[in-house]
Amino acid sequence: MLVILKQDNEGINLQAAQLIASAVKKKPATTLGLATGSTMIGLYQHLARMHKEGTIDFSQVVTFNLDEYLGLPPTHPQSFCHFMHEHFFRHVNVQARNIHIPDGTIRGNYEQYCASYESAIQEGGGIDLQLLGIGRNGHIGFNEPTSSIASRTRLKVLSRETLDDNAKFFDPGEESPRCAITMGIGTILEARKILLLATGEAKAEAVAKSIEGPITCAVSASALQLHPDVTFLLDEPAASKLTQRDYYHRVLEMTALLTPEKLS
Ligand code: GLP
Repeated sequence: MLVILKQDNEGINLQAAQLIASAVKKKPATTLGLATGSTMIGLYQHLARMHKEGTIDFSQVVTFNLDEYLGLPPTHPQSFCHFMHEHFFRHVNVQARNIHIPDGTIRGNYEQYCASYESAIQEGGGIDLQLLGIGRNGHIGFNEPTSSIASRTRLKVLSRETLDDNAKFFDPGEESPRCAITMGIGTILEARKILLLATGEAKAEAVAKSIEGPITCAVSASALQLHPDVTFLLDEPAASKLTQRDYYHRVLEMTALLTPEKLS
């Protein structure tokens, strides 16, 4: 695991954008696993700017989003589909046919639908670079605590903590979704490279448990310890509960010296 500590949000967004841009430059037909959430907004803004400046071309890129709320049509302002178009797709040149986001409007045959999402990932050659945020409870995608480390794309009931975190985004009186379709932890672990972004003190405990705690289904992101190529990009508040910060700084210095390509 590579833990990159940055002073603030902006440092994280820029570095994440550079890592994605260099992956796309190396392999123009890269398959990206994309995430939603406020943490991702600054990163998508940088990618949109780079595209406008002509330094990144998404014309051959294929994308698979991690998750979507069950019951929300793509036009709903809180749907992840709407988020992705608003913050990313409408600013760049990813081809519509290359965009995959779980369909929140399906009714019934969930297993069949989720299996078809998995098949589409496989048929596209798998995910090259998976972007992740993290929930306060350590979830990745919507893999709530107690999710199996071997889980695949499926219907997932949202935890109380997630429902509380999300309630503020919905109109008063509007019922927020209780379920989601999410890639599983097993699906995520098959990506060739994983990049997790976390900012703010509210994430500090989940981040520390994920990186330094035991691998446990109680903290879904701790399963990332099983993956050979994970980078955590953290700002100071999100990193504040890590006990090995000094060591991560030294690893970073040596990485810059010996394998700088890992950082850009
Ligand atoms: C939702 C998404 C996660 C995301 C999380 C964090 O729960 N399903 O994929 O990581 O939000 O969101 P934020 O970045 O707004 O804290």
